[in-house]
Amino acid sequence: MVLFSTGRLTGNGPMAFGRSIITPGGEPRVEQVSSRHALEEFARLPYQVYAGRPAWWPPDVQNEIDFLTRRTPVAAYLDVAGFCARRGQHMVARVSAVINRRYNQHWNEQLGHLIHFEALEEENQATVAMLRAAMEWLRARGMVAVRSGFAAFLDYPYGIDNYDRLPSFLLRGNPAYYHCYLKDAGFEVEKGQVDYTAALDGETRSRYRSIVDGALARGVSIKSWREYGFLAAIDAWTEVTNAAFARHWGWNPVTRAEVRPMLVSLGDTAVADLSIVAEVQDEVVGAVFSVPDWSTMLARIKRGVTLDPDRGGGTRGALINIGVTESARGRGIALAMAARSFLTMAQQGMRYAGYTLVLDDNWASRRTAESLGARVTDNFVTYRHTF
Ligand SMILES: CC(C)(COP(=O)(O)OP(=O)(O)OC[C@H]1O[C@@H](n2cnc3c(N)ncnc32)[C@H](O)[C@@H]1OP(=O)(O)O)[C@@H](O)C(=O)NCCC(=O)NCCS
Repeated sequence: MVLFSTGRLTGNGPMAFGRSIITPGGEPRVEQVSSRHALEEFARLPYQVYAGRPAWWPPDVQNEIDFLTRRTPVAAYLDVAGFCARRGQHMVARVSAVINRRYNQHWNEQLGHLIHFEALEEENQATVAMLRAAMEWLRARGMVAVRSGFAAFLDYPYGIDNYDRLPSFLLRGNPAYYHCYLKDAGFEVEKGQVDYTAALDGETRSRYRSIVDGALARGVSIKSWREYGFLAAIDAWTEVTNAAFARHWGWNPVTRAEVRPMLVSLGDTAVADLSIVAEVQDEVVGAVFSVPDWSTMLARIKRGVTLDPDRGGGTRGALINIGVTESARGRGIALAMAARSFLTMAQQGMRYAGYTLVLDDNWASRRTAESLGARVTDNFVTYRHTF
């Protein structure tokens, strides 16, 4: 655990707040997290934040520790520092400052990211001091702005509604007061995102069948990852996603070497049946990654609590990602892949399908979701602060 010295904190003008964060006697103080014990506390802070929730998605503690100690495949592209705020010995807030060199090169932008943000309530002073310390770490390394709430594979946006309901898999179910902390630290909304849900009723399913049949009749091959070959499908997904998302806000290119270990263990799960590859004349032009309802396995659900069927409990699958290469767009390929995925969800007993996280202004994706009969069910925002 490295405690900031006052000298380090006050080296630059904007760090004047540094004096006040290292005051004794119960005042909050900010630390850069490094010891094994502090890393554990850091990774486990969400267990305090969400303790009262009827249902929430817990963090992957070991994965976060591995990330902060640079033991994950993405470490080669990142500079990372974990920060926390404490009151006495008690950790009250945490965040990781990340410089994603790959993102910055791709977009030709010196943008830092703040990920892993979590904080207890009524801790404005401590939390804002921590956020500012993390931002100063980024600024001192040449970043001109910072984003919190979206980084490919690393961070997801902040919910602005449905605070008491289990969000879609991967998405944040943050407390409402997080917005207050981020705004107090100088952040403004950069982007809005929405999450869609479709009810897989009989009429909808027969419409999906005609959508899939129509694509097949036009010579588009629609296969599950299991049919295509799961390992080959992982690489196909990586290639299509890099091509389709090349100019998609927030994305950065990813490599086969990092995607393979993330997905390979899912080959024996329903992911292999729900995820889809589309080909035209033997060329892969589209890919979908979908998951079954993992809430019963991964979410922490209080005893006696029954989730609404459109939120989880074994009845809500989710399409996490969809992409079609530019030259193949506008021919119903996205619709057909999603329809096939949703039909398989229905065959496996799911009654609802999520269409996860669409940028407010991504009309092609909005129309795809709406053509599938999905409706917006949750809203999210990503924040930015320019130094
Ligand atoms: C979003 C995307 C997957 C759509 O793929 P596609 O194969 O072109 O979509 P489809 O041809 O199946 O069209 C689906 C619907 O969207 C509409 N649509 C397609 N492109 C559109 C565009 N650029 N603007 C507005 N509507 C559009 C179609 O008209 C159709 O609606 P309809 O049924 O009411 O006619 C594709 O544009 C893409 O890969 N974009 C980049 C990655 C991305 O944004 N992924 C989604 C992240 S949430």
